[in-house]
Amino acid sequence: MPELREALDAVLQDVAPARLADSVRRLITDYRSGLPAGEPLLRDMVDATAYAAYRMPATHAAVTAALRQLPGIAPRSVVDLGGGTGAAVWAARDVYGPIAATVLDQVPEALKLGARIAKDQDIAWQPWQLGEDVPAADLVTASYVLTELDEERQRDLVARASSAAAVAVVLVEPGTPPGYRRILAAREVLLADGWHIAAPCPHQVGCGMRGRDWCHFAARVNRSALHRRLKDASLGYEDEKFAFVAATREFTAADRAPGAGGRIVRHPAFRKGLVTLQVCGGDTAVGPALVSKREGPLYKAARDAEWGDRWPPHSLSSDLLSDQC
Ligand SMILES: C[S@@+](CC[C@H](N)C(=O)[O-])C[C@H]1O[C@@H](n2cnc3c(N)ncnc32)[C@H](O)[C@@H]1O
Repeated sequence: MPELREALDAVLQDVAPARLADSVRRLITDYRSGLPAGEPLLRDMVDATAYAAYRMPATHAAVTAALRQLPGIAPRSVVDLGGGTGAAVWAARDVYGPIAATVLDQVPEALKLGARIAKDQDIAWQPWQLGEDVPAADLVTASYVLTELDEERQRDLVARASSAAAVAVVLVEPGTPPGYRRILAAREVLLADGWHIAAPCPHQVGCGMRGRDWCHFAARVNRSALHRRLKDASLGYEDEKFAFVAATREFTAADRAPGAGGRIVRHPAFRKGLVTLQVCGGDTAVGPALVSKREGPLYKAARDAEWGDRWPPHSLSSDLLSDQC
């Protein structure tokens, strides 16, 4: 699989850095406004290139992280709704191999640029407006799209994803309170359609964070020199915060594992001999799990655990259960 970063660098040389930087500034302001877009925010090839430059690595990292929380499926095709320059299909192909991929979007320049970035990868780039039919696929994704739509159109997009997908639907939004709320609303549509929520929630009922906190995760992204310049940033990396929901038609093998457990919803906190994990549990309660050095293998697992991981890990939860029998 060719590296996204190298493929991106090859096309970014076509636009002067100053023009890219102007466009990045405008796009950041537009996206931060949080208002549904009345017309496409990507207006031309410079915008599409700017968007690809500053967003594709982060989107790729977030979607990859979301897909990795969905073990036990092996989709053979993916359709990405509002896929822009195709970051999500890069992620899907990194996780599942060279599966058949289709990117649908309303902005022809984004599709054209995506095809150039992907070079000879066999991906279909299709003009599409929300409201039009979605081709069937095993996996349907939409990343950072709901944010551009009003509530009615958000529901429409989720319903179309739900009808088109045979195996799984994965939706990713910014890891902000409004992004989380859009994901919650999408989750309700998927549940009402009979989908099983495979991640991040370890349960199928209401979110235990609603009204108190917002469920989100983080993916580390290394920044290239151009990326740093475009974002006026000095650090060599950023943490992309994202909210997501991944739904499957069937319960996956991982969910059927004994004591499938909960999910870590914040960075673990370490003190000498003690790890504190904030865990969303199967009973919807979100709260701290304290693991001390006395707990041997569990403590070792807690020291290695990361925000977003299942807890306890499957390998240990079956041992713990058999210990208790
Ligand atoms: C923020 S961009 C995200 C692009 C891509 N999914 C990614 O994560 O890199 C939102 C995308 O949704 C597309 N979009 C928004 N509203 C749409 C609509 N009504 N029909 C089709 N595409 C739409 C935009 O053209 C844009 O490419």
